[in-house]
Amino acid sequence: MIKVGILTLSDSRSAEPKKDKSGPAIEEIVKEIDGIVEYYKVIPDEKELIKKELIHMCDDLKINLIFTTGGTGLSKRDVTPDATLEVIEKEVPGITETIRNESFKITNRAILSRAVSGIRKESLIINLPGSPKAVKESLSFVLTALPHAIEVLKGDAHECAR
Ligand code: MTE
Repeated sequence: MIKVGILTLSDSRSAEPKKDKSGPAIEEIVKEIDGIVEYYKVIPDEKELIKKELIHMCDDLKINLIFTTGGTGLSKRDVTPDATLEVIEKEVPGITETIRNESFKITNRAILSRAVSGIRKESLIINLPGSPKAVKESLSFVLTALPHAIEVLKGDAHECAR
């Protein structure tokens, strides 16, 4: 079982969390890797608030796998990657590089996502774009590699040799 946390970033959705479609889409998809959502919140695009939630999920709740959705673009209020970079200890660039590269084959706007991935303590944080379509596409490219990443972070697996 993988403990999953989801943080949806959206000024508009935070006023009406029930309208969030991206968080529930992630919840559905992670079932494929035995992921159980233990924490889910919809909050506005505020950097300090995002940092606080990420730290809470990593340090207090010890969530294995954290997805953010939204706030990765170029608009002034898009600050998710910036908040993430301030809380992670190491980047895991391959995850978001792959998402961007593969997504570019679907839409050239994929390069407009500044999403990052990285680890804090034993948690892996992955930024996803905001739309449910982008969430589904993005996860389809990296999902199967994630259980091994979590095993390594938990100390249950030490090497990648198969
Ligand atoms: N990636 C995929 N796979 N599919 C998409 O439709 N949309 C792009 C991009 N990444 C998209 C995608 C668009 S239009 C934007 S503006 C950026 O993600 C940033 O989105 P965000 O600000 O909602 O995070």
